[in-house]
Amino acid sequence: MKALETISWDKDTRSVLLIDQTKLPLSYRIIRCRTVDRLITAIRRLEVRGAPALGIAGAYGVALAAFTIRERDFHHYFHLLESAALEIGNARPTAVNLSWGVLRVLAKIRLAGSIEEVRVVALKEAQRVADEDAAACHSLGDYGAALLPETCTVLTHCNAGALACREWGTALGVVRSAIESGKNISVIACETRPLLQGARLTAWELKRDEIPVTVIPDSAAAHMMRKGEIDCVIVGADRITRDAVFNKVGTYMHAVCAKSHDIPFYVAAPFSTYDRVHTEQEIEIEERERDEVAHFSGHTTIPDGVPVRNVAFDATPISLITALINERGVILPASGWVELAEKRRII
Ligand code: MRU
Repeated sequence: MKALETISWDKDTRSVLLIDQTKLPLSYRIIRCRTVDRLITAIRRLEVRGAPALGIAGAYGVALAAFTIRERDFHHYFHLLESAALEIGNARPTAVNLSWGVLRVLAKIRLAGSIEEVRVVALKEAQRVADEDAAACHSLGDYGAALLPETCTVLTHCNAGALACREWGTALGVVRSAIESGKNISVIACETRPLLQGARLTAWELKRDEIPVTVIPDSAAAHMMRKGEIDCVIVGADRITRDAVFNKVGTYMHAVCAKSHDIPFYVAAPFSTYDRVHTEQEIEIEERERDEVAHFSGHTTIPDGVPVRNVAFDATPISLITALINERGVILPASGWVELAEKRRII
């Protein structure tokens, strides 16, 4: 399988390169972000998306700010850098990885004594964030692969693949690792209304790797489960608190259905997605523009004046989850769940 690199730093032009995820599958285009504003726009437009990729974007964003702020006074420079970092971290609210990536680089540069040092340290740390994400995805992929039977049809929602990370993927990382280990895996990708990350992105990257994939309307998932056509569900996550998993809207619906059909429901996500500070009620769920729901293929699908709620994520209670898969192992919900995992230093 040829590795995709969703997001990277171009050292010659000191800019961030992204695969434009709004154009797939029709065209494969690279966006070059030379400024923090352009990167923030890319995040808001979902040109770069998916929690781990947002973490990397946040980290590179701070490096980009460090290189592009033109100010000679160190204190003023640092102040401008912190405001830029805050703006990047707030570009989207639900995926914790974004602010995590920003804060990780900010923490490293606090001890730097000069502008030049800030730049060097920021870039080094951002690159470390990207490299660690790739390693985490391969590792959690291997842990997850061990959970799957020799032959298995996996239902997934949204895109938790290479395009949502630096490479390999979380939910799709498990699929890729299982296939590499010789298992016979096929994927049912829910199309993921309204922006079709499942139909456009998951199907595109799996087809590229010649992994069998079939796209279904989101509303067909319960039917397929009832017919015995799904062996397990694997999704990624945007944030995991001790009481809930936040992921693309529709995930909760799949978890409820999986529970009622006795189908294992796995969540694959690296530590950068864990939020040990907040609980479900404290998390803002992003609501996006009306037009994303009210237009389809250039046509208006909802009468003017009719309100729309374009809720982009939902929260699935931990009790509906069979196991959390991360780069250090698998956490089962029995016996104390997250608290126990913390004690054993799994998270
Ligand atoms: O709005 P998006 O496309 O950024 O939403 C992405 C998801 O919900 C993914 O499932 C999640 O980030 C996990 S990515 C490994």
